[in-house]
Amino acid sequence: MNPLLRSVFWGAVKIPAMRKLLSVSAMKINDAMQALSDQEITAIYERYKEFTRIPAQGYAINLSVLGNIPVVNGCVVECGTWRGGMSAGMADLLGAERTYYLFDSFEGLPDAKGIDGESAISWQSDNNVDNCRTEEQYAHDVMELSSAVRVHIMKGWFNSTLSGFEPDAPIAVLRLDADWYSSTAECLNYLYPFVPKGGLILIDDYFAWDGCSRAVHDYLSANSLADRIRTVGSSLAYIVKSDMRAVQSISTEKELVS
Ligand SMILES: C[S@@+](CC[C@H](N)C(=O)[O-])C[C@H]1O[C@@H](n2cnc3c(N)ncnc32)[C@H](O)[C@@H]1O
Repeated sequence: MNPLLRSVFWGAVKIPAMRKLLSVSAMKINDAMQALSDQEITAIYERYKEFTRIPAQGYAINLSVLGNIPVVNGCVVECGTWRGGMSAGMADLLGAERTYYLFDSFEGLPDAKGIDGESAISWQSDNNVDNCRTEEQYAHDVMELSSAVRVHIMKGWFNSTLSGFEPDAPIAVLRLDADWYSSTAECLNYLYPFVPKGGLILIDDYFAWDGCSRAVHDYLSANSLADRIRTVGSSLAYIVKSDMRAVQSISTEKELVS
C-alpha cells in the first residue's frame, strides 16, 4: 500500500465507532448527523484530504448541508470528482445502502470559453500544468476506503458518459463540481430530471465561476422551474428540488385574469 493510502487507512480505522454509526439506515443517519460535531466532520476531511481539491472549510460546509437537510431515498451522483475525496466523505455520511456514481474525465477540465468569464480563462492558462488532471485509480482507492459498497466510476467526458445513463434509483444527492458552463449545463440537462422532489443539488462552483452560475440560471429558466437557489454564505449554493414550475403559477394568474 502506498504511504498516502496507508495514512488514510489508519486515519479511518481509528474511529470505528463513527464508521459504524454512519453505516446505519438513511433515516438514522440523518438523525445521527444532527449530532455530528465539528471534530467528527474534521476527521472525515482529514481522512480524505489528499483526495479532494476542496479546502477544509468548503468540505465541512458540504457535509453540514447534507447533515442538516433530510436526504431522501436514492443514489448519490457527483459530476467532477477529481480523486473522489468528496464522494467518499458523502458516502461515509449517507451510508452503504445507496449507490455512488462518480463522473469524471480524469483528463482535466475542458477549455474554458468566453461564457465562463475572463477570470476562468486566465486561471486555466496559468494552471495548464495541472488543470485538474488525475489518475482514475485514486477514485477507486478512496471509495474502497469509504463506507460505500456499490460504486460506479464513470470515466469519460460527460457528453458521452451521461448519454444513455440511468441511475439505479432516483438521485437523492446530485453534486456538481465541474466548473464551466458547458460541463454544468450537460449535467443539469441530463441528470436534473432524475432528482425527485426533495432531492438535493449541491453546486460547488456557483460563486467561483460565472459559467457555472449562468448554467444554473439558464437551466432553471429554460425549464420554467421555480426551484430556489439557497446559499451558505458565498461558499456553496444548493437547491432542494421542489415540484413547482413557474409556468403553473403563470397559467394560474392568467386564469384569474380571464
Ligand atoms: C474542481 S475538479 C472536482 C473536484 C472534486 N469534486 C474534489 O472533491 O476535489 C473538476 C473536475 O471536473 C472534471 N470535468 C469538468 N468538466 C468535465 C466534462 N465535461 N467531462 C468530464 N469531466 C469533467 C475535471 O476532470 C475535474 O476533475
